[in-house]
Amino acid sequence: MSIHERRVRTLFDEAAIAKRNDELAEEILAARPENLLVVAVLKGSFMFAADLLRALHRVGLAPQVEFVHLSSYRTGTVSSGQVEILRDVQSEVRGRDVLLVDDILESGRTVVFAKDLLMARGAHRVLTAVLLEKPGKRAVTIDADFVGFICPDVFVVGYGMDAAHAFRQLPFVGVVDFDSGDPDLFDP
Ligand code: IMP
Ligand code: MG
Repeated sequence: MSIHERRVRTLFDEAAIAKRNDELAEEILAARPENLLVVAVLKGSFMFAADLLRALHRVGLAPQVEFVHLSSYRTGTVSSGQVEILRDVQSEVRGRDVLLVDDILESGRTVVFAKDLLMARGAHRVLTAVLLEKPGKRAVTIDADFVGFICPDVFVVGYGMDAAHAFRQLPFVGVVDFDSGDPDLFDP
């Protein structure tokens, strides 16, 4: 069975995500960001970032938007710890308030890498927003400033996140149903 044919069990549905995005936007507004630049970490955060940006607009913020494409090398579903820049931001970040947006805070290495990079380039403040946080998985010390949901320690897909390049298009976050065998799915 190909991964595309597998079923995905819903963990966080569209309505819950939409509601939480509006709440996050209020929390971000309360941090009084100035000259705000939203930096979305590709690929996994593209859908979250798009919805969060619209929520930020609704609360009256007018951020500029940038993208950084980072790759944290993974063996199957396990992170190896190295982070590489596949595409860098193009705007000047010096002196600006930056909101770094990522999909999941797991080991923390991706967010720490990106935050350090932006601080080293002279950002005034780097706030971090993640859709999901998996507690107890941190390899480096970092707390996100804004967290959508606490996520159970399972591999999730959808709403921008993938398993073997599948499921990014799903409008909700869920778990791939592996009950019907095929344990080597992630090893091509
Ligand atoms: P960290 O650097 O270990 O915090 O890893 C975070 C990155 O790993 C996220 O930005 C995701 O791209 C990816 N990741 C971690 N857990 C999952 C998961 O359950 N599903 C999909 N991607 C994940
Ligand atoms: Mg990612």
